[in-house]
Amino acid sequence: MDSRFSLFLILSALLASAALADISATADPLIRQVVDDEQRSSSLPNVAAAADNLLGAPEHHFSLFKKNFGRSYVSQAEHDYRFKVFKANLRRAARHQLLDPSASHGVTRFSDLTPREFRRQFLGLRKLGLPSDANTAPILPTSNLPADFDWREKGAVTAVKNQGSCGSCWSFSTTGALEGAHYLATGELVSLSEQQLVDCDHECDPEEQGSCDAGCGGGLMNSAFEYTLKAGGLMREQDYPYTGTDRSTCKFDKSKIAAKVANFSVISTDEEQIAANLVQSGPLAVAINAVYMQTYMGGVSCPYICSKRLDHGVLLVGYGASGYAPIRMKEKPYWIIKNSWGENWGENGYYKICKGKNVCGVDSMVSSVAAVQTAPPGTQ
Ligand SMILES: *[C@@H]1O[C@H](CO)[C@@H](O)[C@H](O)[C@H]1NC(C)=O
Repeated sequence: MDSRFSLFLILSALLASAALADISATADPLIRQVVDDEQRSSSLPNVAAAADNLLGAPEHHFSLFKKNFGRSYVSQAEHDYRFKVFKANLRRAARHQLLDPSASHGVTRFSDLTPREFRRQFLGLRKLGLPSDANTAPILPTSNLPADFDWREKGAVTAVKNQGSCGSCWSFSTTGALEGAHYLATGELVSLSEQQLVDCDHECDPEEQGSCDAGCGGGLMNSAFEYTLKAGGLMREQDYPYTGTDRSTCKFDKSKIAAKVANFSVISTDEEQIAANLVQSGPLAVAINAVYMQTYMGGVSCPYICSKRLDHGVLLVGYGASGYAPIRMKEKPYWIIKNSWGENWGENGYYKICKGKNVCGVDSMVSSVAAVQTAPPGTQ
């Protein structure tokens, strides 16, 4: 059988099973392009080989995984169950590899977790209504935007943090945005407290009763900006350190506020506007569907199909004009995203996702925050 034809069959089967599994299928014209385009299909066997690699010798992959991530299980039964989950995740990673050929997918520290456990423990975005103090971001000129832009190079981004097994992603996205805004307003980069948000922020949906920011149970960045505005500000990370649990009471000390919110705004879903606001206002709080992130190891993620159901809060820190793209011969532009799963996930804690198509909903919920300008310490 012609190898292109067999790949077509593999892809069709995968797409059909993916549609039934964790990815909701949308009729994406790109799927057809991959199999129709003579020139583009030439690199498909490499992707298929990478995917194939994941499926051979699962015992070997599992012992490496246990060694690399220091895993031990309490009983043989637990071990056997985790191995089963691990094998299912190898199949998922192989499927992700075929659907997302410009990124590399494989074994990550989440490989012994079911998708449900993963969502519960490491995501944590709650859909809440817009707080009363949210503004709409102004439409900015976009003609003079730089081709590449990265707030990390300008000193506006703190080191990658780790949310642990707690659905507190929203608090990291919030602190990241305010850290950047505070840096722009004062010239000082200060790591801010997620734990304050986890313990003290119970801001609720103005319309829906009982739908509130809820520590490790999830929350939303806009609500957290609203809380921070009302509370007066956020303390430093070092004065209110992260514990990764939400079982303690609020220990907010107003006298130790390190950064204050002046206002916050919701940005349109237009990618040029997102880029312009990023350049003008600093790193932005964004929501995303994280299904491909469980198996992501590096590269520019640009899946042919990805749900736009938002379940994870992250920080947009920059963009690039041309990322590596093995299948589509043309280099693609991408967003640079800071995650909160430690430095040993992804590309040193970062994720790259292609620009231009609202892939995985990345353009759907974007907000900026402005910090109150305060005199730097020692100058008062
Ligand atoms: C938000 O605050 C910043 C800094 O104080 C200010 O320059 C800007 O005009 C404010 N935006 C809105 C919409 O109030």
